[in-house]
Amino acid sequence: MTVVAVVGSQWGDEGKGKVVDLLTDAADLVVRFQGGNNAGHTLVVGGESYALHLVPSGILHPGKRALVGNGVVVDPDVLIGEIDDLAARGVEVTPGNFTVSASAHVIMPYHRMLDGARERPPAGDCAGGRVVIGTTGRGIGPCYEDKASRQGLRMGDLLLPERFSSRAGAALLEKNALFRTLYALPEVGLPELEALRERWAARLAPFIGDARAVLWEALSAGRNVLFEGAQGSQLDIDHGTYPYVTSSTTLSGGACGGAGAPPRSLGKVLGLVKAYTTRVGEGPFPTEVAGPFGERLREAGREYGTTTGRPRRCGHLDAVAVRTAVALSGITSLAVTKLDVLRGLGPLKIAESYRLDGELVRHMPPDIRDLARCEPVYRDCDGFGEDISGARRLSDLPGAARRYLDCLEELCGAPLGLVSVGPERGETVLLEKFF
Ligand code: GDP
Ligand code: IMO
Ligand code: MG
Repeated sequence: MTVVAVVGSQWGDEGKGKVVDLLTDAADLVVRFQGGNNAGHTLVVGGESYALHLVPSGILHPGKRALVGNGVVVDPDVLIGEIDDLAARGVEVTPGNFTVSASAHVIMPYHRMLDGARERPPAGDCAGGRVVIGTTGRGIGPCYEDKASRQGLRMGDLLLPERFSSRAGAALLEKNALFRTLYALPEVGLPELEALRERWAARLAPFIGDARAVLWEALSAGRNVLFEGAQGSQLDIDHGTYPYVTSSTTLSGGACGGAGAPPRSLGKVLGLVKAYTTRVGEGPFPTEVAGPFGERLREAGREYGTTTGRPRRCGHLDAVAVRTAVALSGITSLAVTKLDVLRGLGPLKIAESYRLDGELVRHMPPDIRDLARCEPVYRDCDGFGEDISGARRLSDLPGAARRYLDCLEELCGAPLGLVSVGPERGETVLLEKFF
């Protein structure tokens, strides 16, 4: 039995979907444990592109099981849409190969409304202190808030009409007061939510169950389990660039609370590192390049959000951020993606440390006020002009690309496990046997 957790080591969109899909070949079970449909994981198989937001990326492999753990927040309409879209493309999602935890929280329409309203702060004095995060607008934060304040509705509640109605009714008292008094939004009626519950339950009931039990059974039967993280280390609610973060634990440890995995079961942790850095939404980004280099990266890497279509901010690789992720998630090896995108971009740079008040710092400061005063200290690297998408071994890569990887490995502080040189499954240099 091997358990591998795949986590982002930057600000998300590192290519987790591609790598999870690739590793699923040898896995039996693939598990999402946090986040929701703020995630957008793209995989390209046989020239066809699939964008998944909730269903784990392993689903494309016949004969494998996929779980959505209790730590995920689920928008039922998005889940139903994803199941239908996959079916239309010949990928069967059935109760036999897919289970959603009954304890996963439901993203309700009022969560999306609140998310949107908070991102449009009112003008004037009362706007003071409120921050615009640039969220995906999917209701993620408000849903996790209700989970923490114990006002949430869980997937299992969709199957219990009376309990659903009384809990939804109680939640509406507070939400509608906010909509009325603070946000000038229309109130939400209970009958509207009850009708949704009926429709959601009719479609999703066969999938709702005890996902933990499926996981524990797989672990005790010695199966190979793959955890699919969403977002990235720097978007973690505690250790990221707070408040410009998401609302869940994006680190490998999240698989414990978010799926019921015993901590000692986590074997390998694969940290995904895009060969440069991107970020969507607001918040600090020390190695961001606003000029032509950043624009060329965006075009070459097609850096537009899978979920919202927003242009991603682009910049140099930041080894300080990745090194911090290595420490936080216990990353045992690195999967470097999109190395091919750096082709022809000229000389490259990697931030090896930051200068803060005259001192060199090697990890991300925990407070963004300090981060704002950090100046990246760069290591210069040669660029390369060759097309590397056909590389399948390190020795197929040009010298400059290999030196870039050597430098990345040294500065980030973990060994390379694989290098991705294109979006397709096969466009990969595999350096480690994961299962
Ligand atoms: P995720 O959220 O971490 O799963 O990443 P996204 O799917 O949001 O973004 C990664 C994008 O890069 C997707 O469009 C992938 O198809 C693509 N991709 C992944 N690996 C590579 C690679 O090595 N090279 C290139 N050119 N594209 C890649
Ligand atoms: P994947 O799994 C990149 C960002 C949003 C915003 C912040 C908070 O595809 O890597 P939220 O909607 O979660 O409350 O937004 O987090 N964000 C992501 N950025 N990739 C993601 O997921 C993201 N999920 C959330 O842009 O800055
Ligand atoms: Mg993404």
